[in-house]
Amino acid sequence: MKRQPIGIFDSGVGGLTVAHAIKQILPGESLIYFGDTAHLPYGDKSAEAIKYYSHKITEFLLEHDSKVILIACNSASASAFDSLKKEFNDKTIIIDVIDPVVEYIGTRDFKKIGVIGTKRTISSGTYESKLKEISPSTAVVSLATPLLVPMIEEGFIFDDISNAIIRAYLSDQSLSGIQALILGCTHYPIIKNQISKIFNFNVEVVDSAKIVAGILRDVLEKKDLLNDSGKVTDMFFVSDYTTYFEKIAKMFFEGDINLKKADIWN
Ligand code: DGL
Repeated sequence: MKRQPIGIFDSGVGGLTVAHAIKQILPGESLIYFGDTAHLPYGDKSAEAIKYYSHKITEFLLEHDSKVILIACNSASASAFDSLKKEFNDKTIIIDVIDPVVEYIGTRDFKKIGVIGTKRTISSGTYESKLKEISPSTAVVSLATPLLVPMIEEGFIFDDISNAIIRAYLSDQSLSGIQALILGCTHYPIIKNQISKIFNFNVEVVDSAKIVAGILRDVLEKKDLLNDSGKVTDMFFVSDYTTYFEKIAKMFFEGDINLKKADIWN
């Protein structure tokens, strides 16, 4: 069991930000990653569709012996976490990306914070309701920023186009006076620096990658599931091959990666 990989999924490259953070603190772990590029972006899909994709992907990752499943996508965490737990709880451990961030905010004393994410994540109200429970005195402003995922997946980062789009979203009046901004989408850490710059680096920009990687380490330690064999193999699957996925994965994982297309929908 200890040698089995950590299963991770997202709609595309976003979950790689979480996978990368896991590698930083758990270099001895093997990863199996699934990017559902055929259905990207999840943020525009219905909760039902995302649930269906998430269940299929979880089955695939379990067939590949994942010892734990990490939903490295906020849209899927908001739509499918509860139903995945219901279906797979007796087979594996399931971790999402929203609860760990909410818990982190609960340890801080912010007066006003912002959350940005996909239309699916923001309209679900998941962050707002969970934050209200853990931190009732913190005012929470949510904003859907749907152009950011297609922009990132098309490779528009660190350029004038992306700066203009990010600025247009983040200059929304509702965000004025925030002390922290939650990146409620795992794609957004790729443009974290551009986002911080809009706020002149005066706002704490919170992304889930490091926080979730820390939670995963605690869970594996507690369950005595850390891989101590010294053998590590990472595998990457996509449902539709894109050169951009490969490029970003190579950037995060420095060098050649074991990338395959998996058709799990038939
Ligand atoms: N990275 C995802 C998230 O955290 C998915 C974005 C999308 O596919 O729209 O929500």
